[in-house]
Amino acid sequence: MSRRQTSNSIKLWDWPIRLFHWSLAASVSFMFYSGYTGNLMEQHVKVGQAVLALIVFRIIWGFIGSTPARFGSFLQGPGAALEHLREFLARKLPPEAGHNALGGYVVIAMLLLTGLQAFSGLYVSDDIFLEGPLYKTATESLADWMNSIHHTNWRILGALIVLHPLAIAAYRFWGGQNLLAPMLTGRLKWPSALTPPPFEFKEFWFVVGTAITAAVVVYGGLAVFA
Ligand code: HEM
Repeated sequence: MSRRQTSNSIKLWDWPIRLFHWSLAASVSFMFYSGYTGNLMEQHVKVGQAVLALIVFRIIWGFIGSTPARFGSFLQGPGAALEHLREFLARKLPPEAGHNALGGYVVIAMLLLTGLQAFSGLYVSDDIFLEGPLYKTATESLADWMNSIHHTNWRILGALIVLHPLAIAAYRFWGGQNLLAPMLTGRLKWPSALTPPPFEFKEFWFVVGTAITAAVVVYGGLAVFA
């Protein structure tokens, strides 16, 4: 007699994380297009500030968001990341509700590099007609430093971004795990035999408060320092 494993649908990614993720994917794609081609550069400067606000939002949400979104729930030591890699190579991945121990490091790297790219852009000028809002406040050496970060870091970030959907495809076709569906629908299929992991989501007002705080930090900061 065949024993089919039954599954339940459980909550995984809250809607603010999904809204954040797809807004980040759209705006970073635009930043790569405009930065690479030189088209729409005025919008490049504006969208860059929005990217920074998105990153600040995600950092705050990593402390007060729903359980799987919190940094504390997915950041683990290097041993756990290596163990995950072994399981992946052996095609023996356990059910996972959230970023795995290895993916957690990639998430942090992507957030930091995206934040660094957007932040350094505030100090960049092309010496013709385009100027980041903090360019005039910087010493020459600081502006040079930020300029070189902005023109180097995008390659590392770009490599990570290209790798990212490839890794997700590898989890699907090699590891047998569908990571994309939860990032679209917020829900994950979870074996009914296992206890579902905790999912606690704060009220709507936490989302509004986080969004306002992120906007105040970035746009208020620019209004004060620019
Ligand atoms: C410029 C493009 C993109 C950027 C900057 C980006 C960035 C990120 C970041 C920062 C995370 C971590 C989410 C969090 O916890 O906050 C993430 C997760 C994720 N992304 Fe993307 N992403 C991009 C494009 C895509 C695309 C095209 C796909 C579709 C295949 C995708 C699918 C996912 C999935 C499924 C996860 C969750 C992975 C997991 O379950 O651990 N992303 N992405």
